[in-house]
Amino acid sequence: MTTYITTPIYYVNAQPHLGHAYTTIVADTYSRFMRLCGERVRLQTGTDEHGDKIAEAAAREGVSPREYVDRISALFRETWPQLTIEPENFIRTTDPGHIRTVQNILQQVYDQGDIYFGEYTGLYCKGCERFLTEKELEKGLCPDHQLPPDEISEQNYFFRMSRYQQQLIDHIQAHPEFITPERYRNEVLSFLSEPLEDLCISRPTSRLTWGISLPFDENFVTYVWFDALINYLSGLGYPDGPDFADFWAGAEHVIAKDILKPHAIFWPTMLLAMGAPLYQRLHVHGYWNVDETKMSKSIGNVVRPAELVEEYGVDTLRYFILREMSFGLDASFSSDGIVARQNSDLANDLGNLFSRSLAMLAKYVDSTVPAHSVDDETDVLLRKTATSMLASYRSHMKDFEFHRALRSVWELVAQANKYIVVNEPWTLAQDASQAGRLGSVLYNLAEALRLLALVLRPVMPTTSAKMAAGLGLAEDDACLKGLDTAGVWGLIPVGTRLQATPSLFPRMDQKKKQSAPAVARKSKTPPAQGKEKGGAAATENVITFDQFQQVELRVAEIVAAERVKKSDRLLKLTVMAPEQRTIVAGIAQSYSPDEVIGRQVIIVANLKPVRLMGIESQGMVLAAKIEENGASRLVLTAVSGPVAPGSTVA
Ligand code: MSP
Repeated sequence: MTTYITTPIYYVNAQPHLGHAYTTIVADTYSRFMRLCGERVRLQTGTDEHGDKIAEAAAREGVSPREYVDRISALFRETWPQLTIEPENFIRTTDPGHIRTVQNILQQVYDQGDIYFGEYTGLYCKGCERFLTEKELEKGLCPDHQLPPDEISEQNYFFRMSRYQQQLIDHIQAHPEFITPERYRNEVLSFLSEPLEDLCISRPTSRLTWGISLPFDENFVTYVWFDALINYLSGLGYPDGPDFADFWAGAEHVIAKDILKPHAIFWPTMLLAMGAPLYQRLHVHGYWNVDETKMSKSIGNVVRPAELVEEYGVDTLRYFILREMSFGLDASFSSDGIVARQNSDLANDLGNLFSRSLAMLAKYVDSTVPAHSVDDETDVLLRKTATSMLASYRSHMKDFEFHRALRSVWELVAQANKYIVVNEPWTLAQDASQAGRLGSVLYNLAEALRLLALVLRPVMPTTSAKMAAGLGLAEDDACLKGLDTAGVWGLIPVGTRLQATPSLFPRMDQKKKQSAPAVARKSKTPPAQGKEKGGAAATENVITFDQFQQVELRVAEIVAAERVKKSDRLLKLTVMAPEQRTIVAGIAQSYSPDEVIGRQVIIVANLKPVRLMGIESQGMVLAAKIEENGASRLVLTAVSGPVAPGSTVA
């Protein structure tokens, strides 16, 4: 089976931004996913280079259109590898092959009588490069450009789009998956419930020369949408190239809602007129805003992919935008949002699972995947979670519900973290008779990580490769090759030698967060600057919000506790936060070891380690100090309900 996945070809009158990056990352992720499913995949993106807007942009810069389009097209082409996007084809509408295909199609459709010459008077929006209907206007303005359209009357060529209206309606009704998500399918059907007008497909050369000449009338160039949509065919060598035969049957287009009508109405009617099969699916996503505001050059909040990669790393960016946007709906990008996901989902949940599992495998079984023996119920639960994750991951990825697919992947991450806490490998390691059980637990952790490396490959290719390397696996090892064959529990080979691997995701510290240049940060109200009397602000020991932010507070679960020899004040605590650490706490006069095991407390997690009675203490447990009967007693802090160990407190 084949999959041909395309992005829109982007106009070269603007430089690549977050919106372009999202669509292209979606297409790349899906193409990697389909490859994992065993399909032959071809990913195509490119640039749309003809039309008024481009000619005007070139004129503004005082260069020829050719010079201008070459420069901006190269910017798009260079952006994709920075996002680990590897399209099989990058098409430009100024490519001679594309121009030939457009002219051949125009001639064919003209010869068969589906293009006619006529007079048209209409409301033309220069921004959209098309005539708008009265109905589309909002208060007399183009809804996208907020400008009044010009009334233009001119002789032009028209495509008999109306002729194919019923056929298109029938197709959409018979194929519910043709346009997804459903809200966009409904929008298109509602639009089609009114009679379609024919589509004006030419522009007189007196008004525009930067376009593809009509093969049957040199006084006209082709309307930019009729030209641009054909890229999906010309990029495959339509009509008789071998790639066309192989891939068109698996065609899937990804776009945002702004260009729904050309893709859901113009394009399929053009294909019907050509006698070419329709594409399989059109996937329509929403718009990215930045800090809840529309991205725009004039506001100055346009987010550039290269800056984001530099600031956050490519995989964090890929993960964030796929996890954060519900495909089909709008979403808002913010620096706070991406840092929060980096710290919680990536560094805390996934990163810690990986590093502490590998650390335990190194410490207890010499970095060699051990054999596993009998299952207990925690093993069964872990495996069940993995199996149901795989099923829902697959179906959500197929349906372009990336946020849901990732949510289910994180259910396995959370379950594996719990599995560590419940099984306490550090306790098993202290008892030689438990060596078999310890081996099983560590085997299961290595196996969960293998599956995670597998399913995360389409989303975070670099991280997945690092995980595979840490597990001592090559990316093309059988147990990482193909979702069908490798998506089964229990495939990591016993005896695999693990490799020391640096941590997957550093926690993003506040300093870095402060310096984020790529996005305007949400303003945080700092504490009042101490003028008024009596309030905390008036006291000497005021700290700023940023200073407070430097203290990393976390929820820690106490998994073991013992008295420190020769001290009646200190307990040695083993806590998970979420990684294992030792904290020496001065609470022995208020709590016995038994009383604290199993409690969740709040700790300062980024305190410089100190040695107390010869033991390194890696943090501080917070407790309230109360006075009772002339003596002081400590009461441990707690959270009001159980939470994942390591959760940040803010
Ligand atoms: N050239 C046409 C497309 C022709 S396809 C045959 C065009 N180009 S564009 O440069 O304006 O790109 C529009 C596409 O860019 C959207 O459909 C979407 O894929 C992406 N995005 C641009 N801004 C966006 C957001 N703010 N948010 C999400 N994606 C958006 O239209």
